[in-house]
Amino acid sequence: MSELRELYNDVILGHTKKPRNFGPLEDATATAVGYNPLCGDKFVVRMKIEDERIVDIRFEGDGCSISKASASVMTETLKGKTLEEAKELGVVFRDLATGQLEGTDRLDDLGKMAVFSGVSEFPVRVKCATLAWHTMDAAMAGKDEISTE
Ligand code: FES
Repeated sequence: MSELRELYNDVILGHTKKPRNFGPLEDATATAVGYNPLCGDKFVVRMKIEDERIVDIRFEGDGCSISKASASVMTETLKGKTLEEAKELGVVFRDLATGQLEGTDRLDDLGKMAVFSGVSEFPVRVKCATLAWHTMDAAMAGKDEISTE
């Protein structure tokens, strides 16, 4: 089993069983609901933003293992980041999930995010992996809701 594949299993399993930053966020300043109409899965992403920085981020909802693990890794990754950094990471994650970073050395810098590169072979799973990231983008843009269709 390749190293990335082993890491994929660990990350997906670990974050699905015990999602990080899961639950409500009482003093959120930006919130959006993300919906995948293909399966009906839905997440709420809430952020507390101060001085253009994400000081806290949490999510709630239900979805498949990939969508939940991705949301969990996203919250870990974005806590403490500036809005600009979060936007950039969102673009990087979408490039990663759609296979555009394949064969580049960019994967080396992405930590746990890199394990989601495997979903690029399965178009339906790309939507699972990117659901929380689209939702985070919507919240930053002041939208209440986003659908992946
Ligand atoms: Fe619904 Fe993955 S099957 S988000």
